[in-house]
Amino acid sequence: MRLTNNLTEYGFISKIFHWLSAAVLLIQIPLGFYLVDLDFSEKRLNFESIHVILGLSLFYLTVLRLAYKLINPTPLLRNNIFPGQKLIAKLNHIFLYISVLTITISGALKKLFNGEILDVFFFDLEIKDSFELAELFYNIHIFGNYTLITLISLHILAIIVHKIIFKENLLKRIL
Ligand code: HEM
Ligand code: HEM
Repeated sequence: MRLTNNLTEYGFISKIFHWLSAAVLLIQIPLGFYLVDLDFSEKRLNFESIHVILGLSLFYLTVLRLAYKLINPTPLLRNNIFPGQKLIAKLNHIFLYISVLTITISGALKKLFNGEILDVFFFDLEIKDSFELAELFYNIHIFGNYTLITLISLHILAIIVHKIIFKENLLKRIL
């Protein structure tokens, strides 16, 4: 298997970025929904720390992934099966990146505007609290999550439709 991408194939590094991000999200989304239902306790604090550490790790992973995309070609999408198909696929990918970044940044801002000190791994962050802004960023965090769930569902649905209707196995490109 090649290490880097070329115009027809994903390399190992892109595949690792893709599946590591997918695995973190698979844990992180249910963990977030589980977290909100927990009463204040030691257990809740522990789950919240795991949620924050996973979320911040995914933020850095996504920034690295995007930086890597700048220095490495993205494999071209196949020919259009229907008009606008490539554009839809591109938009799906772009909005997946945007929602992951929005969710991670809004999660961090929610905690910061709550008056908490946030350890972002390399340094501690602290800003002046504002409960209105904390509420706003929390709503963005929730909205971002529903958007992301929709985009991931469409992303997976597209792969299934390609396989069943267009007899094209996209999955093997990223495995
Ligand atoms: C892509 C990464 C992330 C995902 C998928 C995610 C997902 C979620 C979900 C689904 C919820 C429940 C929302 C609700 O229905 O009320 C939640 C809550 C929360 N998230 Fe995240 N989150 C991520 C990253 C972060 C980060 C980076 C932070 C902080 C640095 C964070 C802090 C929180 C907090 C504080 C809550 C609310 C807990 C509460 O007050 O009850 N999240 N998250
Ligand atoms: C079971 C889950 C998933 C499957 C089966 C899957 C499958 C695929 C496949 C087959 C491709 C290659 C498409 C092509 O270029 O022909 C791809 C690309 C991509 N996937 Fe997924 N994926 C999954 C989960 C996710 C998740 C959770 C995200 C969210 C971040 C994601 C983000 C992306 C992005 C951004 C690309 C384009 C890669 C690039 O940046 O060039 N995928 N996925």
